[in-house]
Amino acid sequence: MRIDILTLFPATMSMFFEESILARAQKKGLAEIVLHDLHDYSLTRYGSVDDYPYGGGAGMVMCVEPLANCIEELQSQRRYDEVIYTAPDGQQLSQPLSNTLSLKQNLMILCGHYKGVDERIREHFITMEISIGDYVLSGGELAAAVISDAVVRLIPGVLGDEQSALSDSFQDGLVAPPEYTRPVDFRGWRVPDVLLSGDHKKIAQWRYDQAVERTRQRRPNMLDD
Ligand code: ADE
Repeated sequence: MRIDILTLFPATMSMFFEESILARAQKKGLAEIVLHDLHDYSLTRYGSVDDYPYGGGAGMVMCVEPLANCIEELQSQRRYDEVIYTAPDGQQLSQPLSNTLSLKQNLMILCGHYKGVDERIREHFITMEISIGDYVLSGGELAAAVISDAVVRLIPGVLGDEQSALSDSFQDGLVAPPEYTRPVDFRGWRVPDVLLSGDHKKIAQWRYDQAVERTRQRRPNMLDD
């Protein structure tokens, strides 16, 4: 999978992709994340890509031409399955949506900033708008990093133990059960005996029961679905 991210802050963003699972996915050749600096597509001498909003009001709007030029240059090089815009009023990112996106070949993610982008970009280029939650960030970069992480880790081979993505919270409609590691006893707080029993059937049943109970307590709406 290739993800092209269009941003005003490529340097800040690059650190998200240089560590851990996303870095490993790129080293293994399973994912390629390419950052594009929108300032490079500026039409002005000063490299600006934003302007005052028509009709007045506070804040700046990202201009249509530099964004269109960047998007079209990339689209002339390969076919994109989705051109995503990160926005608080988009469809909320979820595990099912991450699963769907992880099956794609080429994704483009445009990070909004200031008051957002000229509406004509959304109308004519964007195929999907994604929010990472009902709160407003100062830019779409964190959202693009969250989307990339949630999606890339689901690509087969990215995680060492292929099972572990499948047993994540939300993957089977339940949150994940609790996990423990050594020591067995810390200050008298003991690991549940069943996990030490070696009885795999019992352990699987216990984990399932715990997942159901936790889902009931923490995300009851998931059980309704
Ligand atoms: N840009 C600003 N806030 C955002 C959010 N909650 N999700 C995605 N992009 C955003």
